[in-house]
Amino acid sequence: MRRIFSGIQPSGNLTLGNYLGAIRNWALLQREKSYECIFCVVDQHAITVPQDPAELRRATREVAAGMIAGGVDPDDCILFNQSYVPEHAMLAWVFNCVARVGWLGRMTQFKEKAGKDRDNATVGLFVYPNLMAADILAYKGTHVPVGDDQKQHLELTRDIAQAFNSMFGVDFFPLPEPQIFGTATRVMSLRDGTKKMSKSDPSDMSRINMTDDADAIAQKIRKAKTDPEPLPSELAGLDERPEARNLVGIYAALADQTPEQVLAEFGGRGFGDFKKAMAEVSVSVLAPIGEEMRRLSNDPATIDAILHKGGERARELASPIVKEVYDIVGFLRP
Ligand code: TYM
Repeated sequence: MRRIFSGIQPSGNLTLGNYLGAIRNWALLQREKSYECIFCVVDQHAITVPQDPAELRRATREVAAGMIAGGVDPDDCILFNQSYVPEHAMLAWVFNCVARVGWLGRMTQFKEKAGKDRDNATVGLFVYPNLMAADILAYKGTHVPVGDDQKQHLELTRDIAQAFNSMFGVDFFPLPEPQIFGTATRVMSLRDGTKKMSKSDPSDMSRINMTDDADAIAQKIRKAKTDPEPLPSELAGLDERPEARNLVGIYAALADQTPEQVLAEFGGRGFGDFKKAMAEVSVSVLAPIGEEMRRLSNDPATIDAILHKGGERARELASPIVKEVYDIVGFLRP
């Protein structure tokens, strides 16, 4: 059985990075029909840093709306929010007792998010990857489509699965495969080509949000940082030019071209022309998605019904798997 699990945190606006690195690929994989697909709004992950409760609920619905508007079909997959299914947290506790402090201490996302004041980071932020492993393995997920930034967490998921199997002498958990593909596996900030485009960046100009309208998209692209040289005609000419490389990568992904094709067309030309074309293709792809997101967000009852149904189906799958884990571990069921 091939089973996909993937998730997005409801923390801030969904970005072009989330769309190109994750949601768009999920929709493609789902249409292939060769996987059972489970997609999750991971609200329990979001509270590893402080969240406003009303805003968390709003963002949970908005992320679900973004997945659907971006092409995920809730009639043909399981779409739910993490906290509805207690099995994630139940399994995460077991993994807290499998994973080692040293493994978690090496996670670059923890180091970045905790910053210098590590003693003040929540314990949840530290054990975040154990919950992520539980998300996937509560369903014995075999494939995990994500952006490049999640690679290290998925390696840890495999380590946890393997450590559990060998600790208890069982062949219980699969080792899930990351699926990182497309020309935009790491979309960078529009203000700094060495930083990931992120929903939590304080500058809204650093990212294109999936809800941005045509004017906002065009303005952000016009103002995107570049360098003074014209675009090169060959890929090698993008080395050491992170902003140019990022914009070419985004254009290629949105126009369904290779970066080579983009450079064949725009090589030797200045950024003015290129940015105009980029704004056009961005608006043509993103504006309808943003519009559909806004429409769905105005209908919270429909989103809640979708998440409820998905949550019930998810529980049906996760419950027997986690029960079996508890038996393996030796928890008594009196
Ligand atoms: P999150 O919420 O940060 O991002 C969701 C998905 O979007 C991808 N992504 C990007 N891809 C390309 N360029 C970018 N700039 C960019 N920004 C984000 C991420 O790689 C991800 O695929 N820990 C995860 C959520 C999670 C999860 C899971 C994922 C929790 N449990 C189980 C897979 C399986 C996260 O914080 O993603």
